[in-house]
Amino acid sequence: MPITIAFDVYGTLIDTAGIVTALRQRVGAQAGPFSDLWRAKQLEYSFRRGLMQNYQDFSVCTRHALDFCCETLQVALSAAERDSLLQAYRYLPAFDDAKLGLERLKAADCRLYAFSNGKPDDVRNLLQHAGIDQFLQGVVSTDEIKSFKPNPAVYAHFLRQAGACGSESWLISGNPFDVIGAISAGMRGAWIKRSPQAVFDPWEIQPTLTVGSIVELCEVLGAGGA
Ligand code: 2OP
Repeated sequence: MPITIAFDVYGTLIDTAGIVTALRQRVGAQAGPFSDLWRAKQLEYSFRRGLMQNYQDFSVCTRHALDFCCETLQVALSAAERDSLLQAYRYLPAFDDAKLGLERLKAADCRLYAFSNGKPDDVRNLLQHAGIDQFLQGVVSTDEIKSFKPNPAVYAHFLRQAGACGSESWLISGNPFDVIGAISAGMRGAWIKRSPQAVFDPWEIQPTLTVGSIVELCEVLGAGGA
């Protein structure tokens, strides 16, 4: 039975910090902290909307988080400048290790999916622009059930869509909350710890495995390639 792998998108295949380049032109030296706060708020808004059962799609969370950052960091950006940043967010780059890692896993007959909070078309465009869509056999989005990670229902939705069972499927993510959510819902979960400083939540649930990159993941799963 081939291994089924759900790749988280934002923060795992796609580098959300790639927005720093566009931010630098608008907010200068604040670009780094702005990008970090933007991402943290975007996720917080998705968590809160999920709990409140007040669903708006992920792009709304992204837009509201941008507005929050402008207020908090006292950066006066026009509507056109905000639109331009949101447009840049649709074309973020892939992490350096993503292409080679996906290529090797596909060559080893793993069934690879993108699994994201993002809307299906947004995710497809993002992956296509980043040049990594050809390795994936499908996109599964939490939008299809109008909820967000880490609601256990979204991991169950993934397994249904992929025709896979949890104990034989992996969720691969750079986001600890996503790894914990998947394991809690019965999947195996690998954490991509790209930075030595990254800290995993000190909960009773820990990753099934931790690797430094997607290429290292291939080696551990026995799909090392040439
Ligand atoms: C994703 O679902 C959590 O942002 C992350 O792509």
